Amino acid sequence: MTSSYSLAVVAGDGIGPEVTDQALKVLDVVAQDAGLTFERTAYDLGARRWHATGETLPDSVLEEIRGHDAILLGAVGDPSVPSGVLERGLLLRLRFELDHYVNLRPSKLFPGVPTPLADPGDIDFVVVREGTEGPYVGNGGAIRVGTPQEVATEVSLNTAFGVERVVRDAFARAQARPRRKLTLVHKNNVLVHAGHLWSRTVDAVAAEFPDVTVDYLHVDAATIFLATDPARFDVIVTDNLFGDILTDLAAAITGGIGLAASGNVNPDRTSPSMFEPVHGSAPDIAGQSKADPTAAILSAGLLLEHLGHAEQAQRITEAVEADIAARAGQPRSTQEVGEAIASRVAGAV
Ligand code: NAI
Ligand code: MG
Repeated sequence: MTSSYSLAVVAGDGIGPEVTDQALKVLDVVAQDAGLTFERTAYDLGARRWHATGETLPDSVLEEIRGHDAILLGAVGDPSVPSGVLERGLLLRLRFELDHYVNLRPSKLFPGVPTPLADPGDIDFVVVREGTEGPYVGNGGAIRVGTPQEVATEVSLNTAFGVERVVRDAFARAQARPRRKLTLVHKNNVLVHAGHLWSRTVDAVAAEFPDVTVDYLHVDAATIFLATDPARFDVIVTDNLFGDILTDLAAAITGGIGLAASGNVNPDRTSPSMFEPVHGSAPDIAGQSKADPTAAILSAGLLLEHLGHAEQAQRITEAVEADIAARAGQPRSTQEVGEAIASRVAGAV
């Protein structure tokens, strides 16, 4: 197994660099122990660069990043940059150009984590959100903008190829989990064109995975069950927009945005996958060492797992779990949380 990796680090804006520092600290401890090396290249992308040069993601930088084994991203976005510039020009561009068609978002309620649910049950599921199609492709336009006759379209793009590859990945993940259950979430009673393509694809691929139980929910019903019976879910597969919304709800019921990790995965490994906390740059708390780095640290765990180091990934999860269980009311700084988790990973606690 490979033991030396090149890692592109895009710390980004706001709390992005603060949480990324802690994720790298933990990654270094695990790596050193396991005899792995991560040769890092830091990329200055985000609000600062845009203000200085007007660039979001120059082609040459994209090509350099493409040459790495994996990418660790903090967060991008700042109130001083018009909405959409960095999200579309940097984040979505990376996901589309590097063909991150699996947007992986695990949701687990760790013991001791406060949840808004009175009776949460045993929450442990993963959302496989399609990452390169749906309404996020930018297939639309507007005419007569600003007039009472304005017309705006935002077309959801769904291809048989794109749906099949993400559904297949979701089935494989379900097959590898103890409960082996897959739930397709869509709205196939109203969005019949895309919905039927998704349903037919799930039916067809299901034949290859006889051990996996298949379920279907409309997206509106899925929000009910996420609040009333989230323990029923194991693997959810869904489109780009539904997945975006459902995973924020999933984060909310499992202890909040400070704990939610994600991977933008290219399962074919034709380009590097990118791992990042679900949260944004949190300008309201940036620079105050208040950000919880746990989501970024868990994202580094997903990165290790993707590179084939499941045992090392598990050590991070266990260290986080132990740290969370020991969390008392006392607020800790970003660095304190990072150091506490790093020491647990090192076995010092
Ligand atoms: P946000 O996730 O940055 O913040 C929402 C709320 O959660 C804020 O009150 C913030 O203080 C809190 N929060 C977020 N992360 C936290 C952490 N690790 N620890 C403790 N509290 C945390 O979302 P918001 O405010 O909608 O967006 C801020 C900027 O981030 C915008 O420019 C947005 O476009 C961008 N953004 C970037 C993302 C990315 O890089 N993947 C994802 C979401 C938003
Ligand atoms: Mg979102």
